[in-house]
Amino acid sequence: MPLVNTREMFQKAYVGGYAIGAFNVNNMEIIQGITEAAKLENAPVILQVSKGARKYAKHVYLMKMIEAALEDTDLPIAVHLDHGPDFETAKSCIDGGFTSVMIDGSHLTFEENIAQTIKVVEYAHSRKQYVTVEAELGRLAGVEDDVKVSSEDSSYTHPDEVEEFVNRTGCDSLAIAIGTSHGAFKFKGEAKLRFDILEEVGRRLPGYPIVLHGASSVVPEYVEMINRFGGNMPGAQGVPEAMLRKAASLAVCKINIDSDLRLAFTAEIRKHLAEHPDHFDPRQYLTDARDGIRDMVRHKIVNVLGCSGKA
Ligand code: G3H
Ligand code: 13P
Ligand code: ZN
Repeated sequence: MPLVNTREMFQKAYVGGYAIGAFNVNNMEIIQGITEAAKLENAPVILQVSKGARKYAKHVYLMKMIEAALEDTDLPIAVHLDHGPDFETAKSCIDGGFTSVMIDGSHLTFEENIAQTIKVVEYAHSRKQYVTVEAELGRLAGVEDDVKVSSEDSSYTHPDEVEEFVNRTGCDSLAIAIGTSHGAFKFKGEAKLRFDILEEVGRRLPGYPIVLHGASSVVPEYVEMINRFGGNMPGAQGVPEAMLRKAASLAVCKINIDSDLRLAFTAEIRKHLAEHPDHFDPRQYLTDARDGIRDMVRHKIVNVLGCSGKA
C-alpha cells in the first residue's frame, strides 16, 4: 500500500465516531515504536514531522524511514507536516513526498491566515496525488519549536468564523483551540475544555473533520517514573483521557500527541540507565525507549482514539 493522504481516514473516522492518532516522529526508534503499535492494533496512523524534526533528523532520513515502516507494516500511513510555518516549508514537504501538510497561520490576522492557507491549498490540491491541507483558527498556548505562546496570547476559536474560513480556503481539516495547549504543563488545577465551542463548530461544519492539537494526557505513571529516576517535572498535567474520548466521538478526527511520546521515551531511558549503570550500548536503552513508545501508542489507540481494527 502506498502512503495515503488523510481524506479517506477522516471520512471513516467521522462516521465511525473515532479519531486517528497523529504522532510526532524525530528518529528511527519513535517511528518503529509507533508503527509497531499500529500494526499490532491494525490501526491507521498519521506520522507527523515538525519543522524542528526536519532540522534535527533531515527530511530525507525521516522520509526513507517512514517508507521502510510502510513496507514493514502495509498499513494506511499518512506523512504530515506539523505546524508548517510558511508556504515554502509546505511546498518543500509536498515536493519531498509528504501526503498531507498543515499550514499554521493561527498567529496571523483572519485575512492573512486565509490568504496564506489558500496559497498552500492551491499548490497541494493541484498535485497529481492530492495532498490534504490542515489549517488552524484560534491559538493554543504552550511551546512549539522555539515559539512560546503565553496563555494571555492564546485565544479560543470563534465558531462564527469557521464556515467562512473553510469555504474560502478549501482546507481539508481545521485545527481549533478549545483550551488544550502544547507541552507537559497544560493546566494549573482542574482541566477545562470548551466542548461548547467544539459542538458549535460541529454544527456549523457538518461532516467536516476537526483536529485537536496539544492532546497529550501527560500520563502520570511516566511523570512519576521520570521523577523517580532523577528527573524533575513537578506540576506536569495533561488532558484527561475521558475528555479526549468525548472529543473523538464528536467532530474531532485527528488527535495530536507528542509530549506523551517524549515522556515515555525519556522515562524508559532514565529507568534503564538507573537500573543498569554499567550499560553504554545505545541499543540496550533504546530498545526500552522504543518499547515504551509502542506501549504508549497502543494504549492511545485502544483507550483514547478508538481506531483499533480500522486500518
Ligand atoms: O506542536 C508541537 C510538537 O510537539 C512538535 O514539537 O516543534 O519541538 O518538534 P517540536
Ligand atoms: P502535545 O504537546 O500535547 O503532545 O501536542 C502535540 C501537538 O499538538 C503537535 O502538533
Ligand atoms: Zn500542535
